[in-house]
Amino acid sequence: MQNKFSGDPYAPAEDTYFLEDNLVNEKGKNALDIGTGSGYLTRTLSRNFLQVIATDIDFGSLVNQNKKIKNCICCDAADALNCKFDLIVCNMPYLQSDEISDRRVDGGKEGVEVPLKIIKSAVKCINDSGKMLFVTSSLANYEKLIEESKKFGLDLKIISRKKLFFEELIIVEAKLK
Ligand SMILES: C[S@@+](CC[C@H](N)C(=O)[O-])C[C@H]1O[C@@H](n2cnc3c(N)ncnc32)[C@H](O)[C@@H]1O
Repeated sequence: MQNKFSGDPYAPAEDTYFLEDNLVNEKGKNALDIGTGSGYLTRTLSRNFLQVIATDIDFGSLVNQNKKIKNCICCDAADALNCKFDLIVCNMPYLQSDEISDRRVDGGKEGVEVPLKIIKSAVKCINDSGKMLFVTSSLANYEKLIEESKKFGLDLKIISRKKLFFEELIIVEAKLK
């Protein structure tokens, strides 16, 4: 997989704000924001969680954040972490793409390839009583993403949908079986 992107972080957009609407009432000890980008969701999580860790695979995004966040790790999904979280969130890169040219948005084949890697990596970090919330879209094969993720030992359900002009945003909740 190539990565030609290392530059400005993803600017908060409809999908960012929709995920924020769905996590803003969550509370707990610790949370993980995978693919933090600008850090927008990490800052929202910091209001209700004692400790928030953020990761992003794109170093350029992290160094160019206009508001620096604490506890930021440059790594693939949760690969560098060996701890559990009450809540894990990810606004996935979900656009269908033949190659990964822009890590901010390219999800690989069917818009599922990168999200599946991220979910697989995150599973080991979900508390027994915790959960993961992630964004996907009607532009991706989200049904396949949900079906394939069950193989990681997760129960998944769609908890919210939002129709936009050109796509429908989908929030999925995943818990350990
Ligand atoms: C759609 S953007 C979301 C950014 C921010 N969380 C938001 O909601 O505005 C996806 C982010 O995931 C990051 N990303 C892509 N693949 C990743 C991976 N395998 N591990 C960690 N971060 C990744 C991208 O660099 C980008 O910052």
